Amino acid sequence: MKQIRIFDTTLRDGEQSPGCSMNLKEKLQLAAQIDELGVDCIEAGFAASSPEDFRSVTEIAKSVKNAYVVSLARALKSDIDKAYEAVQHAAKPMIHTFIATSDIHMEYKLKMTPDQVLDKVTEAVSYAKSKCDQVEFSAEDASRTRPEFLWEVCQRAVDAGASVVNLPDTVGYATPAEMTVMIKGVKDHVKGIDDVIISTHCHNDLGLALANSLAAIEAGARQVECTVNGIGERAGNCALEEVAMILKTRQDYYQASCRIDTKQIYRTSRMLSAIIGVPVAPTKPIVGKNVFAHESGIHQHGVLSNKSTYEIMSRKDIGYPEQRMVLGKHSGRHAFKAEVANMGYHLTEEELNDAFHRFKDLADKKKDISDRDIESVIMGQQSSQIT
Ligand code: KIV
Ligand code: ZN
Repeated sequence: MKQIRIFDTTLRDGEQSPGCSMNLKEKLQLAAQIDELGVDCIEAGFAASSPEDFRSVTEIAKSVKNAYVVSLARALKSDIDKAYEAVQHAAKPMIHTFIATSDIHMEYKLKMTPDQVLDKVTEAVSYAKSKCDQVEFSAEDASRTRPEFLWEVCQRAVDAGASVVNLPDTVGYATPAEMTVMIKGVKDHVKGIDDVIISTHCHNDLGLALANSLAAIEAGARQVECTVNGIGERAGNCALEEVAMILKTRQDYYQASCRIDTKQIYRTSRMLSAIIGVPVAPTKPIVGKNVFAHESGIHQHGVLSNKSTYEIMSRKDIGYPEQRMVLGKHSGRHAFKAEVANMGYHLTEEELNDAFHRFKDLADKKKDISDRDIESVIMGQQSSQIT
């Protein structure tokens, strides 16, 4: 059985997408929940991009208990310094440095020659490695990079000491068959590649992020980069919950598994949606509200006789509650407490009491209480501040 590492980038690539920004307190709550979910790596942000990002990567590094805490860094010494300054506080720190390698990116974005890019790879990876034992290198736009050049880039990264070589489908352009060829090509032409982890990072522009990540696993990738609810640039990234549930449901086919505690999936999805105020589509695989709903008579008859007739996963495995409460002004403390737990928050009795009072105050003024409202009262906002 292959072990697949799950590298969560909700707080970096996910947060980068429009309407998905989070404040520090929210990032810390979500990071704790993602850690509880059992991911192997949490990409906490891009420390050099702003003082706020630096602070949140630093605080997340101090607070996460189990996973590697990663900061992104361009292939620049100054970025790598900032990344290490922030992640050094983590029990398991990691630096993720990247540079674009496709002709179009090198010519128009970087304005660098291929040889200059190769030198940057060596320089950045060896500098990061001198600071931190765990270094990931990404060849941005790998799927549109000339194969021979990609092999040279990966060779430089491996020789300079990278622990992980990531081959992103940055613009969601590749097909599954092309992902297979890319990964196999790297495996066949890069010396020492078997001693490092090959990673995949797929965007969903053509709706192929999951299929491409699975093709990469079949071709030899041992790490999948993904985000909760699939949030991310443009059409988003590969969705973490989809990777985790396919590895659980079709372990027979992929002969691979990961460490995700799938029972934490539903509450993680709900917490993120509440924090960013972006609802999950009802038909979203794994976490949409319709995924266990049956409308047609034939299907209803089937599931009433035996759930497996039309359900391939169980609610329990995803942590999907048997019953969801509708919170309003008549709701009591027990229902409020249950919903807060369903959203992944662990509150002390005192925090729960305070939040419950704020909730009651809000429910007196507002007819429909959303997850975002509950998140706001948990975060300590008074009802007058909630819009
Ligand atoms: O999509 C991408 O190529 C990225 C890299 C920085 C890994 O997000
Ligand atoms: Zn990306």
